[in-house]
Amino acid sequence: MSIWQRHQFFEKHTVWLMVGILIVVAIGGLVEIAPLFWLKSTIEKVQGMRPYTPLELAGRDVYIREGCYLCHSQQIRPMRDEIERYGHYSLAAESMYDHPFQWGSKRTGPDLARVGGKYSDEWHRAHLMDPRSVVPASVMPGYPFLAGERVDDKLIAEHVATNAELGVPYTEAQIKNARIDFRTQANPNSDDVDAFLERWPNAVVRDFDGDPNRVTELDAVIAYLQMLGTLVDFSVYDDQANYR
Ligand code: HEC
Repeated sequence: MSIWQRHQFFEKHTVWLMVGILIVVAIGGLVEIAPLFWLKSTIEKVQGMRPYTPLELAGRDVYIREGCYLCHSQQIRPMRDEIERYGHYSLAAESMYDHPFQWGSKRTGPDLARVGGKYSDEWHRAHLMDPRSVVPASVMPGYPFLAGERVDDKLIAEHVATNAELGVPYTEAQIKNARIDFRTQANPNSDDVDAFLERWPNAVVRDFDGDPNRVTELDAVIAYLQMLGTLVDFSVYDDQANYR
């Protein structure tokens, strides 16, 4: 029997064809996925990456709730056009504290993985309230209600603790002081700023929404956006050394 005749067997018996497909796909899947669990380079060693502050975490929640990921990816691919437009390609380490990750698969708007520091807080405020006030041709919807919504911080410490349980290396002090730190990050006049910066070394304290008296969802989202892509210190990161 030639090999072609044997092949007829699969073409005439669809159940066996499916079994055959499953076996082949399973082997292919294992070969692709299994090494990632052992390869050291799967998550690069980087400097500067830290867990999100309570305010950034709250902003991330608003980002997810409002479905920003439906129009925005957070993953810069290692291709020249993307790197020239958005900056260094995304590293696995940059989303290792994301539960769940926000890579996204649709870009109605631009990738946001490195949007931190690209615009001023005022720009973000105007843009989120009414995108067309700063980008006349924008099709992004406005989110003016974010400025009026005070963030409920009752459960913020539990939120941080839950992330810690999922493996994010929050310290005891960061969990215990989550509620104070949440308010402090949006209020540069607070007496707690020094203590905050001790617990969160490379975080930024600013009045993100221009209203120092309360912490709104606008504060939280802007704090989150301004942090995106700014944590890893690329002046000491070496692409090559990571793969040797
Ligand atoms: C319907 C699709 C859509 C949704 C939903 C959406 N955006 Fe956008 N976004 C866009 C488009 C299109 C642009 C480009 C035009 C502009 O700047 O407004 C944009 C631009 C941006 C920019 C500027 C990026 C840059 O590099 O210039 C930011 C920041 C942003 N969006 C944040 C958000 C946030 C936060 C949310 C959720 C609260 C959100 N977007 C929801 C479509 C969307």
